[in-house]
Amino acid sequence: MLMRDLSRPLETDIPADALLEVQHLTMRFGGLVAIDDLSFTARKNEITAIIGPNGAGKTTVFNCLTGFYKPTVGRLTLNHPDKGPFLLERMEGFRIAQKADVARTFQNIRLFSRMSVLENLIVAQHNRLMKASAFSLAGLLFMKRYAKAEKEAVELAKYWLDKVGLYERADWDAGNLPYGDQRRLEICRAMCIQPALLCLDEPAAGLNPRESLELNDLLMSIRDDEGIGVLLIEHDMSVVMQISDHIVVLDYGRKIADGDPLAVRTDPAVIKAYLGEDEDEAIPEDIVQDLGLSTRTGGTKQGDGGNA
Ligand SMILES: Nc1ncnc2c1ncn2[C@@H]1O[C@H](COP(=O)(O)OP(=O)(O)O)[C@@H](O)[C@H]1O
Ligand SMILES: [Mg+2]
Repeated sequence: MLMRDLSRPLETDIPADALLEVQHLTMRFGGLVAIDDLSFTARKNEITAIIGPNGAGKTTVFNCLTGFYKPTVGRLTLNHPDKGPFLLERMEGFRIAQKADVARTFQNIRLFSRMSVLENLIVAQHNRLMKASAFSLAGLLFMKRYAKAEKEAVELAKYWLDKVGLYERADWDAGNLPYGDQRRLEICRAMCIQPALLCLDEPAAGLNPRESLELNDLLMSIRDDEGIGVLLIEHDMSVVMQISDHIVVLDYGRKIADGDPLAVRTDPAVIKAYLGEDEDEAIPEDIVQDLGLSTRTGGTKQGDGGNA
C-alpha cells in the first residue's frame, strides 16, 4: 500500500493569499523558551519583516522554518503558489529547500570562498542539474537534457549577477569580493534556487548607507518584478520601515506587535522593548531614528517609503 506523504496536508484552512502561516510556534532549548507561542502570516508578494532586540528569537524562527531545528510545538504551513501547501515542521531540511522551495541566507556569510562567483551560483542549482542528468554519469555526459539544464543554470546565474552589478566579477573567487558584494552574492545564490519564499537573516548587516539603499531596491524588485514573498530579519530600521509591507516584532520569544510599519513604529510596546524597562526616560535620539519616530516633519528617513 502506498503511504500518504504527511508533509502534504489534504486540506488547509489558511487563506489563499497567505504564503506562510506560522501557528503557535514554540521552541525550547532545555529550560530556555526561545520562541513562545508565535503566530503570524506572511502573505504572497509581500515583504514581511521580523524585528526585535538581540536574542529575541528571530534566527530561531528561520532555523525552525528551514528544518535546522524541529519545533517543540507548532505548525508551519508554506502555501506554495504552484505546488500547494506543505507542512514544513514535518519535513527534513533538505526537502524544505528542494521540494517546498524555501531559500535562506545566513546572519554570517556562508559562501564557498575558494570557488568563483559564478561557480557559487551553479552549485546552488545542483539539484535541478542532477535531476536533468537522471542521476547517472551517462546522463551527465551524453544527455541533451543535461546540457540544456546546464545552459539554463548559467543563464539564470548571469541574470542575477547582472541584476546586482556583479557580472564583471563572475570569475573572481567569492572570498576575494568586498563584503557588500558577498552579501549580494548570497542573495543571488538563494534566488538561483528559484524560491517560493526567500528568508534573509540580517542582509543589511555591515553595509554602508549606499549599499543599504541598493539592498532596498533589490528586495523590492524581488517582490515586485519576480513576485517572490520575502521574510526579512533586519536590524537596520531604514531598511525595515521603508520596504516592509508587514512587520512582526518579537521580544524574549513572544510576539509584541504585528502590523504595518506605521502601526508598529508608534506602538508603545515596541518602543518599550527597544528602550528597556524605564518607560519614563526620554527616548534617546538613536532609538528615535531607528524606529523612524522623527520629531521633525514626516516619518520615514529616506524617500517616500517606496512600496505602493
Ligand atoms: N541551539 C541553541 N541552543 C540553545 N539556545 C539557543 C540555541 N539557538 C538559539 N538559542 C537561544 O535562543 C534565544 C534566541 O536566539 P536567536 O534566535 O539567535 O535570537 P536573535 O536572532 O533574535 O538575536 C537566545 O537566548 C539564544 O541564546
Ligand atoms: Mg539572529
